[in-house]
Amino acid sequence: MGICQVRECPKKRVWNSRHRRANLGGSLLENDLQLPRMTSIPTMTLQLPQLRLGSLELDFPVVQAALAGYSDWPMRVIARRLGAPYTMAEVLLDRFVLSVSRGRKVGRYIRVTDEERPCGAQLMGSASDECAAAAVKLVEAGFDVIDVNFGCPVKKVIGKGRGGYLLGEPKTAIEIVARVRDAVPPEVPVTVKMRRGVDDSRQSRDNFYTIFDGVFQHGAAAVIVHGRTVRQRYDGKSSWQFVREVKRHAGDRTVLGSGDLFTARKCLEMIAQTGVDGVTAARGAIGNPWIFQQARALAAGLAPIVPTLEQQRDVLVEHFRLAEATHGPTRACRRMRKFGIEYSRLHPQPDAVRAAFLTIANPVQWRKTLEQWYTEP
Ligand SMILES: Cc1cc2nc3c(=O)[nH]c(=O)nc-3n(C[C@H](O)[C@H](O)[C@H](O)COP(=O)(O)O)c2cc1C
Repeated sequence: MGICQVRECPKKRVWNSRHRRANLGGSLLENDLQLPRMTSIPTMTLQLPQLRLGSLELDFPVVQAALAGYSDWPMRVIARRLGAPYTMAEVLLDRFVLSVSRGRKVGRYIRVTDEERPCGAQLMGSASDECAAAAVKLVEAGFDVIDVNFGCPVKKVIGKGRGGYLLGEPKTAIEIVARVRDAVPPEVPVTVKMRRGVDDSRQSRDNFYTIFDGVFQHGAAAVIVHGRTVRQRYDGKSSWQFVREVKRHAGDRTVLGSGDLFTARKCLEMIAQTGVDGVTAARGAIGNPWIFQQARALAAGLAPIVPTLEQQRDVLVEHFRLAEATHGPTRACRRMRKFGIEYSRLHPQPDAVRAAFLTIANPVQWRKTLEQWYTEP
């Protein structure tokens, strides 16, 4: 356990001259970082945990969450370059993994490269034998960790007995994790993603703890807990109180927290308030891959990095280049339109830039938009 100071710095110490010229004042980023407008420097002491996923030791406890539709290879590479110690790929259906063997789909969804490792693959299914076979395939593809999803709240997924549905079926859920654990090499950590229950009922809560204890008994290395119920989907707050309770129950067993981590500061606050071993940045990392650098800076008692327009442009250019190489120009445009909208929150004129990203249909328009909005005056 390393002790560090989390310190908020006065705004003027955070920005260099370029930031000031770009007039970022009042942008969402500033609010997100919750940079104080006062001159005193409040500090808090935080014991940073050493995050371990089984045999995998990570040098920082803020990692990138699994994000369907987002955490593809390009997003993960960018996150790693900007300080994420570990990233998770988008959730994959066991049957999808088993059905693809080569071609573009493998390149898009089952690709992992040395630069981004360690990287976790996430699986979702309802049959333990299929999940186990798919897990083996993902390990062979190069993923370092297999995570099993018991959290997805999408209706179609629930209807097929997968994801969050399994929080109501402890026996099946534990069986899936046990079979995956048995199937992959012992040195590959198996982790589990759970919401705090199907709903707020007592039964749901009991099921949570039955699954939580059961998967650890069968060799899970860690559990990631999202403090919302399946019924909540993304409404209302994530219960950090529940996450704290779970960590207290877990003792030495590794727990990562998830939910409402929109800023670097929130990531560190969750660790401080709940005692978890790590946290997964999800929506807070979409369009702000600097969140990892910012969290590292805050944890070291330094001012969080606020990316300049030039830095934002460089990352947008690189993100698009990686997306084009992965998905081809047409799909890359569709994907990057979504990302662009999120990146625009960091821009001094977020509404105008958002509107510009919304209309992008081809790589030429992408480049023109960056030229127009991301060139320093
Ligand atoms: C667009 C989107 C896609 C997501 N995809 C996944 C996924 O593939 N696997 C998963 O376990 N969780 C997924 N989640 C849940 C997040 O990992 C995270 O638990 C949740 O968003 C709560 O964190 P936040 O409030 O900080 O965003 C997704 C969330 C969003 C918003």
